[in-house]
Amino acid sequence: MRKKLVVGNWKMNMTISETKDFLAQIKDKIDKKNDVAFCVPTISLESAILSLKDIDIGIGVQNIHEKDSGAYTGETAAKMVKDAGATYALVGHSERRQYFGETCEWVNLKAIQAIKHDLIPIICVGETETEREQGITSELIKKQIKIAFLNIPNEDAIKCVIAYEPVWAIGTGKTATTEQAEEVCKLIRETIEELYGLETAQKIRILYGGSVNASNAKELFSMENIDGGLVGGASLSLDFINITNA
Ligand code: PGA
Repeated sequence: MRKKLVVGNWKMNMTISETKDFLAQIKDKIDKKNDVAFCVPTISLESAILSLKDIDIGIGVQNIHEKDSGAYTGETAAKMVKDAGATYALVGHSERRQYFGETCEWVNLKAIQAIKHDLIPIICVGETETEREQGITSELIKKQIKIAFLNIPNEDAIKCVIAYEPVWAIGTGKTATTEQAEEVCKLIRETIEELYGLETAQKIRILYGGSVNASNAKELFSMENIDGGLVGGASLSLDFINITNA
């Protein structure tokens, strides 16, 4: 039985003071029978971790660099993030792919780097509206998954989390139907089975993301292959409490 996981992705929102205030308000109200985490801006990492010390809510970042250290101005290494106390790192979010040119190959290197430093990568995949209209969603998702998991051995793959986020549903209020979301999450699980076998496919957690809110979360999370959600906009408000309770 896979434990549900709900992850808030704050994107470029919340200052350090806002982080402290928000987490103080929300921390006792979140249902902790499921796993819950927030991927916060890197600058707020330490204060978020301190705000939640003694509480079973994970903290992660939204991006890491693929190298251990070096002359990469403005970047943050996985080792630094781990040392600050993070548990998760988002990898290959569609906004990173779209605005910062992250390719599938690059996403793979970042996932390997996260694993190397004992962070759980949340590997994001998803198709654009045009790709869905062209009928290439399945082909594209399989390709994104196969490249993201290159050179990742089974014992590490099993610890990764995958987030299926159709790009057309992110921040648009257009959620995928439960059937659409389940269909792609099932395909992702089948692709993992092809790569690693049935046991890993049954254990790996696959989240859905894209306009998840308190009214659609319950139905989405009840689908067989959806193990929770990656939540953007709604993770910035108290609505997130209801999503974690869903
Ligand atoms: P959204 O974002 O919930 O605001 O659609 C999801 C995400 O980008 O992770």
